[in-house]
Amino acid sequence: MDVEAIRGRTLVEESREAVVVLDDDDRVLMASRRARQSVDGIRDGEPLPSDLLTGGLGVIPLVFPYEVDGRRERLVYLSREGDLAAYEELRSGFTAAVSHELRTPLARLLTLLETATLPGEDVNELVEQATNEVEQITELIDEVLFLSELESGARVVALGAEPVRPVLEQALAELEERADRAGVELRLVCDPAIELTIRPRMLRVVARNLAENAIRYAGPGTAFTLSARRGPDGSVVVAGSDDGKGVEQSALPRLFERFYRADRARSSRGTGLGLAIVKHIVTQAGGTVEASGGRGSGLEIRCLFPAPS
Ligand SMILES: Nc1ncnc2c1ncn2[C@@H]1O[C@H](COP(=O)(O)OP(=O)(O)O)[C@@H](O)[C@H]1O
Ligand SMILES: [Mg+2]
Repeated sequence: MDVEAIRGRTLVEESREAVVVLDDDDRVLMASRRARQSVDGIRDGEPLPSDLLTGGLGVIPLVFPYEVDGRRERLVYLSREGDLAAYEELRSGFTAAVSHELRTPLARLLTLLETATLPGEDVNELVEQATNEVEQITELIDEVLFLSELESGARVVALGAEPVRPVLEQALAELEERADRAGVELRLVCDPAIELTIRPRMLRVVARNLAENAIRYAGPGTAFTLSARRGPDGSVVVAGSDDGKGVEQSALPRLFERFYRADRARSSRGTGLGLAIVKHIVTQAGGTVEASGGRGSGLEIRCLFPAPS
């Protein structure tokens, strides 16, 4: 393939749009990854389902015909009705939510600084609280940046299968001290032979988020177990479970939403982005997430990964 051809193919395949290139008989010559994921029935060399071109199935095709070497081909955008509008809405909603989440710790910080100028105040105590607020702001910004990195296509899937145990081990080791202080015992259950095609950095973020949540929310005298087990047909389940406070059953389906926090009032820390990040990583690696438990009976978060290829 010459340079132009490689460029052209990369441009189509990596496009953020659902886009396909068809020959004169509507057979698929190329397709973007996005199109393969979001539109059913796209197979190389096979005709595109005809409904797609006639505006059926909620798809509005945008067609650009051209000629190459005397052959007629077509570039077709397969956007779903409302796709763009929904995306725009999500983005603007996200920006507003981030700004709102930043306001709260910034307002508290301002109050603390104002208080510190009053005579007779315990400045050390105020500085400690102010540091806390700055840490929360930093955490929020770091998480927003990490999410945007994921959204702009940061690689989650590894080139080959990677052993899971060392990554989980390291994630827990890094949190040991904080866990001690919170009175939460950290445990690991993972056969050293288990592998996944996910980049260690990404698996580490997943493990860390699950463990950090237990340290933050489970309560003293509880235990958190991080485990990786083989499921049927070679799939792998990475789970974090604790026997702590848990959340109301009604909150379980919402835990993976951005900015969702089950208990805003009780704890001032937390951004509500941790589990959204976990879901994003697991989904991008082809897996799914689930939560179970109940108020007072602990929380279990399961990440189900397909068999490593
Ligand atoms: N192990 C846990 N025990 C009890 N509640 C939890 C646990 N993990 C998460 N939660 C609840 O789910 C919410 C969302 O978690 P997450 O997305 O990690 O955000 P954050 O930790 O920044 O608040 C938390 O605010 C908390 O209310
Ligand atoms: Mg969290």
